[in-house]
Amino acid sequence: MRTFVSYLIQNTKNRNISLKYFQEEVKRKFSPYHSFYGHQQLSHTSIKNHFFWSLKGVRNFSSRHVPDCIPLPAYISSKMYAAPSQPEIKSKAEIDNMRPACKLATEILDNVGDNIRIGMTTDDIDVLVHRLCIENGAYPSPLHYRGFPKSVCTSVNHVACHGIPGSLVLKDGDIINVDITVFYKGYHGDTSRTFKIGNVDELNSSLVEAARLCRDAGIEVCHHGAKFSDIGEAVYSCASECGFQVIPNFCGHGIGTYFHGPPDIIHVPVDNPGNDKMLAGMTFTVEPIICHGSPNIQILQDGWTAVTLDGSRSAQFEHTILITEDGVEILTK
Ligand code: MF3
Ligand code: CO
Ligand code: CO
Repeated sequence: MRTFVSYLIQNTKNRNISLKYFQEEVKRKFSPYHSFYGHQQLSHTSIKNHFFWSLKGVRNFSSRHVPDCIPLPAYISSKMYAAPSQPEIKSKAEIDNMRPACKLATEILDNVGDNIRIGMTTDDIDVLVHRLCIENGAYPSPLHYRGFPKSVCTSVNHVACHGIPGSLVLKDGDIINVDITVFYKGYHGDTSRTFKIGNVDELNSSLVEAARLCRDAGIEVCHHGAKFSDIGEAVYSCASECGFQVIPNFCGHGIGTYFHGPPDIIHVPVDNPGNDKMLAGMTFTVEPIICHGSPNIQILQDGWTAVTLDGSRSAQFEHTILITEDGVEILTK
């Protein structure tokens, strides 16, 4: 997904650029909800300035502000992607320390669910999520994670995952996955849902329902001593029963003081499942992506946005879970 300013630049090459032109473009591209990078009113000067900055190569004009008081994850503060080499077994104290991050991610996702509507842009969702993180003393984990430019992933219709918020306006009948991860009190919490915008047709409505069922079927088989490969079996057969496919390219992941770590949670059956078992104290995500066409995907030029090759729609739900002695606990409930 291109940024708004690069869109303008591409579309104004060799043209006589006037302020009036920009005002018109801004009006045309921006929804009534849209705020120009941070909920300020548009003024002539700010429109003009944003454009000139972009020409001068100031690239982080749209980066959300993070106040100094917000503790940063290691990949921001020291550019280190520290994760354990093996699936980690967390102590009771570590798990209790991780709960607030999961709870906050859930609350922010609830808030998005209450506010998402026709006419919003995906950037409006980014503004909302960013603000809620900062207000609660959390860092929005996606922001500058391995170069990701925004504070949340917003994946609309045929975007399978990692959609970058931008000027896209949500319209009646769309489906959108909003994937929230927060870094709070030293831990990450990661959760996502797919929302239906306005009236969604039956196929897409059942796709969204199926995606939720598939995630929950994957979680259902988790307990101390279960094989990791059970998850892929359960997700795949749930998707098949619903008449849908699983996109195999994206895994769930271990999570803790690190955003992504072992184990990889594969959402499809594998040829050599091995014998790796879940153990009490492990925390990881289950986050299958389901689609109704071919499960082949490609990554767009921005290096992030994953789209289905055939343009068919996809849906995803995600929870962060904890393996316990007698089963599983959903930390992002
Ligand atoms: N939240 C996504 C996940 O479920 C990861 C997004 S990485 C980002 O693992 F950089 F795109 F934010
Ligand atoms: Co996520
Ligand atoms: Co995740």
